[in-house]
Amino acid sequence: ALHSSLSPLTDHSSVFFSGILITHTHHLSNSTLHHLTQKLLKNYHKGVRPVQNWTQVTTVYLDLSVHAVLDVDTQNQKLKTSVWYQEIWNDEFLAWNSSMFDGIGEISLPLSAIWAPDIIINEFVDIEKSPDLPYVYVNSSGTIKNNKPIQVVSACSLETYAFPFDTQNCSLTFNSILHTVADLDLAFLRSTEDIKKDKKTFVNDGEWELLSVPSTYQVMHSEAGDFAQIQFHVVIRRRPLAYVVNLLIPSIFLMVMDLGSFYLPLSCRTRITFKTSILVGYTVFKVNMSNEVPRSAVSTPLIGVFLTICMVFLVLSLSKSIVLVKFLHTERSSRQNHPLFCFQRTSRAKPVDCAHLTRTSLILHRPQVGFLQEALAQLQSISSCIQALDQTAQQEASWLMILYRFDKLLFQGYLLILGLYAITLCSLWAVWSSL
Ligand SMILES: *[C@@H]1O[C@H](CO)[C@@H](O)[C@H](O)[C@H]1NC(C)=O
Ligand SMILES: *[C@@H]1O[C@H](CO)[C@@H](O)[C@H](O)[C@H]1NC(C)=O
Ligand SMILES: *[C@@H]1O[C@H](CO)[C@@H](O)[C@H](O)[C@H]1NC(C)=O
Ligand SMILES: *[C@@H]1O[C@H](CO)[C@@H](O)[C@H](O)[C@H]1NC(C)=O
Ligand SMILES: *[C@@H]1O[C@H](CO)[C@@H](O)[C@H](O)[C@H]1NC(C)=O
Repeated sequence: ALHSSLSPLTDHSSVFFSGILITHTHHLSNSTLHHLTQKLLKNYHKGVRPVQNWTQVTTVYLDLSVHAVLDVDTQNQKLKTSVWYQEIWNDEFLAWNSSMFDGIGEISLPLSAIWAPDIIINEFVDIEKSPDLPYVYVNSSGTIKNNKPIQVVSACSLETYAFPFDTQNCSLTFNSILHTVADLDLAFLRSTEDIKKDKKTFVNDGEWELLSVPSTYQVMHSEAGDFAQIQFHVVIRRRPLAYVVNLLIPSIFLMVMDLGSFYLPLSCRTRITFKTSILVGYTVFKVNMSNEVPRSAVSTPLIGVFLTICMVFLVLSLSKSIVLVKFLHTERSSRQNHPLFCFQRTSRAKPVDCAHLTRTSLILHRPQVGFLQEALAQLQSISSCIQALDQTAQQEASWLMILYRFDKLLFQGYLLILGLYAITLCSLWAVWSSL
């Protein structure tokens, strides 16, 4: 094919090109690397576990270092991390004597051409774009190193009640899908202490801070056999500063303002306006917050619960204020009209009696009986009228008393909630900072 494509060219250049091709193939066949690779893969069967004696266990050494936390999705209970993953195992069929091959100590081989352990992460829920690296490194004693960066989207039970002072503990469990511990065993490449403290590669300026990566080795017993597994627990902690500034401090201000509204005189009508504007404030705040606060089906952040309780208190106190103002308004207007009611108005129930009484006494008794009798009747009617008024006033006073007591109760309840809020925040923060 190459020759036919070159045919339009002159003879001279054709000879020149074929000369290059010849020396090129000669180089390749002469290269020690080529030689070695050929020799290693010639009789290799990648379907066979690479041990001479089948009773020999293949041990795969694992290592993992967390590179970055990319996403913590509490709604879907998923954690997305970027990790550097390394596995090392020994292949007895891929060993050579380096002094026979120009002292070559290590070569790279295509991963697709050799046997590789079928180790997976149990928590995998999503396949992410991880570069598919085609080569592994093999040294002359047959030790194979396979390093790769992977983006793991893993299922994890994420707790949000302590938001924004929350820590999450997600496991990455590595095991072989098929091979039992008699065939394939797992081990740590580094000591667990080193793995736990390794934060060197972690990109440490995101929202999440890597606390530690404790790891455990276990043999799982199941019906299908005993499987070796290694678990890495990725323990991360949220950096709460942004949330403290944007959520906690404004919420505390709102609550304090709400508390302050209890100091406005109970009968003051501006109190209603004031409380209504705080209610609007709460609502705007809650709408804003719902974007920032993680949502999950199983747990709600405590600060959201507190805000809702505060809103309930606010609405209670607002409706109480409305009742009170309505009450005071009718009382005041009736008080203003009382003297007139008694003698002139005939529209209302109680004053009607009074007015009726006075008028009839005025009309009936004046010509027949003396002035004294008339005055007595007048006085009697006034006294009964005042008595009636007194009764309503007493009723009003007791209602007012009840409302005042309710206000006081609300205030105390509110104080209690605020205190609880403060204590909760402090203890969450203390737990957060002790980790
Ligand atoms: C090929 O290898 C032989 C010895 O193995 C060496 O003498 C010769 O120079 C090599 N040729 C090239 C082109 O490298
Ligand atoms: C395989 O190894 C076991 C012990 O490790 C030994 O008893 C057995 O003889 C070996 N088999 C062969 C074929 O070398
Ligand atoms: C490797 O090869 C050299 C020379 O060919 C020989 O002297 C040496 O013993 C060999 N080593 C092994 C481990 O086979
Ligand atoms: C091959 O690598 C393994 C593990 O890194 C090491 O223990 C072994 O000594 C190496 N072999 C040679 C010949 O360098
Ligand atoms: C993380 O969770 C595992 C079990 O799922 C537990 O063994 C481990 O102690 C936990 N680590 C921390 C720091 O909470």
